[in-house]
Amino acid sequence: MSQALPPYSQHLPHAPGASGALPAASLDPSAGAHRVKRVLVLMYSQSGQLARVAERIAAPLRESAGIELHIETLQVQPAYPFPWPFFRFLDAFPESALTHPPALAPLTLTGGEDFDLVILPYQVWFLAPSPPVTAFLRHPVGRRLLHGKPVVTVIACRNMWLQAQEKMKGLLASCGARLIDNVVLVDPGPTLATFITTPRWMFTGRRGAFWGLPPAGLSDGQIAATRRFGLGLRDALARDAERSNAPVLTGLGAVNVDPKLYISEKVGTRSFFVWGSLLRAAGPPGSPQRVPLLAIYVAFLVVMIVTIVPLSLALQALLRPVLRPWLGRIKHQFEMPSGSATDRLPLYED
Ligand SMILES: Cc1cc2nc3c(=O)[nH]c(=O)nc-3n(C[C@H](O)[C@H](O)[C@H](O)COP(=O)(O)O)c2cc1C
Repeated sequence: MSQALPPYSQHLPHAPGASGALPAASLDPSAGAHRVKRVLVLMYSQSGQLARVAERIAAPLRESAGIELHIETLQVQPAYPFPWPFFRFLDAFPESALTHPPALAPLTLTGGEDFDLVILPYQVWFLAPSPPVTAFLRHPVGRRLLHGKPVVTVIACRNMWLQAQEKMKGLLASCGARLIDNVVLVDPGPTLATFITTPRWMFTGRRGAFWGLPPAGLSDGQIAATRRFGLGLRDALARDAERSNAPVLTGLGAVNVDPKLYISEKVGTRSFFVWGSLLRAAGPPGSPQRVPLLAIYVAFLVVMIVTIVPLSLALQALLRPVLRPWLGRIKHQFEMPSGSATDRLPLYED
């Protein structure tokens, strides 16, 4: 997909079965004798990438007569542009990194609905969950909907998501939600190449290969293969597995942590806190007082990316034998709860 798609919300409401009830009578053996299960899928995507992932996971649920699916498309006011003008992108940094989102556009849900499972796909912006998703998690309706509910997070991003998921865990805990699984999809290109290909995609909408660099974003194969998670969730719902606190997507290769990026993310998050607070003190989003600070900040960011990231990667390569046990622990910790095991993959191979 080399062309930017229009925002998913523009065509989603017309998708068959995109929201509302499916027939309650079930001929699907996977639905068993249980009552119909209600699943909420939250949706926000700029280029359409995360929407494609969410749609692929949702499809087996929509096809199951024992499941009623509601897709809620999130929008914020004012809407974020895509592709991004350069300074508008930078100006989104402080509020994204410090999880102070803009206002959410009115939802179709009231908060009184009762879902059996919530699928929460999100993209990472500046090492934090994207603001439209954060806005939902801070919104009274979102908080009511999530209270006491099992949640499956689905991340699709460049490749730095560890700290964002830590923030997500805090946000979910503050809603009283139960995180049962986490699925993560990252750009398959080399880390340093993605520091060029992702901004190019964000600023121009073009994501194809260029100058010997790979295309930006997930491959079609990665997205197609996410259907296995939808199948896994469908089967878990049929046996009421979502009611326990145990993950239901283990053995499906849900997440594979590259612990080498942990140090860069830690340093990045610290500096984002300092710079983000400084910028917020200078003025609200869009204010001219922020512009000179943002110009200095972008220079700082580029220096960080071309120094800290390669330096920490090189140091870790050099010290690999010493660091191996620690990196192993980081990998294990951040792969919880769903894990990187793939033993159940044959169950869902097409
Ligand atoms: C403002 C902004 C900041 C981003 N920051 C990160 C980041 O910190 N880490 C990361 O892995 N990806 C980052 N990305 C990439 C997104 O996570 C995501 O992959 C991309 O925006 C495509 O998502 P879409 O489905 O909304 O089009 C960023 C994107 C945007 C627009």
